[in-house]
Amino acid sequence: MNECGGRAARPTPLEDRVALVTGGARGIGRAIALRLAEDGARVAVIDLSDTGAQTAREIEETTGRATTFVKADISKEPEARAAVAAVETALGPVDILVNNAGITRDGLILVMDEGDWDAVLAVNLKGAFLMSKAVLRGMIRRRRGSIISISSVVGRRGNAGQVNYSAAKAGLIGLTKSLAREVASRDVRVNAVAPGYIETDMTAALDEPARNAIMKQVPLGRIGTPEAVADAVAFLAGDSASFITGVVLPVDGGLGI
Ligand code: NAI
Repeated sequence: MNECGGRAARPTPLEDRVALVTGGARGIGRAIALRLAEDGARVAVIDLSDTGAQTAREIEETTGRATTFVKADISKEPEARAAVAAVETALGPVDILVNNAGITRDGLILVMDEGDWDAVLAVNLKGAFLMSKAVLRGMIRRRRGSIISISSVVGRRGNAGQVNYSAAKAGLIGLTKSLAREVASRDVRVNAVAPGYIETDMTAALDEPARNAIMKQVPLGRIGTPEAVADAVAFLAGDSASFITGVVLPVDGGLGI
């Protein structure tokens, strides 16, 4: 409460920024989209799933910020470009891009087929390349921008049964560091966040013994929340991180130590 007895206004460090979150319909992407809007940004949700419209409505209702939903498959170049154009028409030039859309198709390598490899690389890695390319011309021209990609602890450490997913997530780290070097002179920052196990639909499939085994490996002894990842993204997106580029910030309860 403030001195007048009212609730203190929440700071809005992202006021006047436009943020685009891929895979923002649910899970970590939804939490990121909501958080960036709470911090003052106008947020666009891009997703393959129509539930993205519901998420955008929810963001507007809870934060009062303008939002938009664009249905697109970010692994296809024409769709990625069209999605960015639609967002810029609706909300203005994109200042913050969060490459969050991702899929898994797990299996040991001997039973993993070429389609499983291609699909995972296409969404998790190529999608981030296409979306980054689509927003960068404007960011470079305006000398302002922040790109954040959601990698994973398995991109840093590897994981049996996930050669496709780990390769894509490790690839995102290479993309992040190279692009950070390419565009730093234009004041565009490029970073990654590497979550550990986070409570979402992607991890809901784990049975009780698998969850217990995971929690034993995590120094903080618990599975993380989408909001914890959103906090890290919000930090990297804003001016509090104005001198930070090319980093991979783990949000994993210590799993990757
Ligand atoms: P999720 O499966 O709950 O949500 C992913 C969203 O991306 C869905 O809304 C889906 O429709 C969308 N999407 C998938 N393919 C798309 C495409 N081609 N174009 C547009 N949208 C597409 O996943 P979750 O758990 O929220 O994960 C989000 C990101 O965080 C992913 O990149 C994932 O790899 C990463 N991550 C997740 C962890 C976890 O424990 N849940 C741990 C580490 C990283």
